[in-house]
Amino acid sequence: MTHAIEVEELVKIYRNGVKAVDGVTFSVRGQEIFAFLGPNGAGKSTTIKCVIGLLRPTSGVIRVQGVDIRRDPGVVKRAIGYAAQETAVDDRLTGWENLYLQGRFYHLPRREIRRRGEEVLKLFGLWERRRDLAETYSGGMLKRLDIACALIHRPQILFLDEPTLGLDVQTRKTIWEYIERLRAEHKMTIFLTTHYMEEADALSDRVAIIDRGVIVALDRPGALKARIGGDLITLRFAADGAPVKEVLSAIRALPGVREVRPAPNGIHRIVVEQHGDRFIPEIVRIASKQGMEIASIRLKRPTLDDVYLYYTGRDIREADGGREELLKTRRMRMRIRR
Ligand SMILES: Nc1ncnc2c1ncn2[C@@H]1O[C@H](COP(=O)(O)OP(=O)(O)OP(=O)(O)O)[C@@H](O)[C@H]1O
Ligand SMILES: [Mg+2]
Repeated sequence: MTHAIEVEELVKIYRNGVKAVDGVTFSVRGQEIFAFLGPNGAGKSTTIKCVIGLLRPTSGVIRVQGVDIRRDPGVVKRAIGYAAQETAVDDRLTGWENLYLQGRFYHLPRREIRRRGEEVLKLFGLWERRRDLAETYSGGMLKRLDIACALIHRPQILFLDEPTLGLDVQTRKTIWEYIERLRAEHKMTIFLTTHYMEEADALSDRVAIIDRGVIVALDRPGALKARIGGDLITLRFAADGAPVKEVLSAIRALPGVREVRPAPNGIHRIVVEQHGDRFIPEIVRIASKQGMEIASIRLKRPTLDDVYLYYTGRDIREADGGREELLKTRRMRMRIRR
């Protein structure tokens, strides 16, 4: 099967000598939602810009729908849509005018633009506001309009560079829903970048964690989480009697249990390889056999945060410091002015 996107050993060194991408290899399957997750300066935008032909790679091979982008940039450009990190919406035009211009840019006939324009604006919940100037739109609406503009020529592959950056949680979730609908209803392949753990986790089929221009891990979010730590079970007995030790050592002997850490405060921690929920009945059984009553038992799954920390040795938020504000102002500044 031909992949939607194939990238082999991509390297990008900017003219100032910065090596933004340092040999990344990955492929994206058709109709997949694939995320690049990484902190500020990891090389996410640079990778996207190389794949869509906005930047010339220093070395490496990129194929879009099996076609080498160097061989046929035209075919590739028609197959893809791109919503940049900084929205390209023109503030002084209405939502409809922005979309219309974009359609003309792709040489679509007027009638076709009207038809498709209505379709995407309705899909993105902007139809009612189409006649309003974009400067009256909220951040979330601007982002949606920007994505709608990237869809006017009906691309098969959509590139979204930080589709929800700086938006509140509610708006972010709305955008996730739109992205999922694009995949479901329009059979689109979606490549997105993000530095939000929750976004990569909730939305994508597979995630590549990128740090300093290198992919440090690539898998389904669940698999990434399972790989690092397994599940954590916390256990508290109703009374701390003598059989606690016996119970804990019986638990320790179960296959799949990685570690049992008895706690002086009465909350014992059990790390299991995976499927923590399946251990709970067994633990309860062992305890009751020893006549021990369990007061509480809890299962905690490792988050992508834990995964990120494991692979990069840094907390993504730590690495990011103050970036949100910076990007917000940058986005405001970048909105086209004349
Ligand atoms: N035009 C450029 N010229 C020189 N260096 C650049 C240029 N664009 C980006 N860089 C550098 O390349 C590195 C990767 O930048 P890139 O924008 O790809 O990161 P990113 O992962 O998209 O970050 P962010 O999360 O902030 O968007 C950074 O060190 C950045 O400073
Ligand atoms: Mg970026």
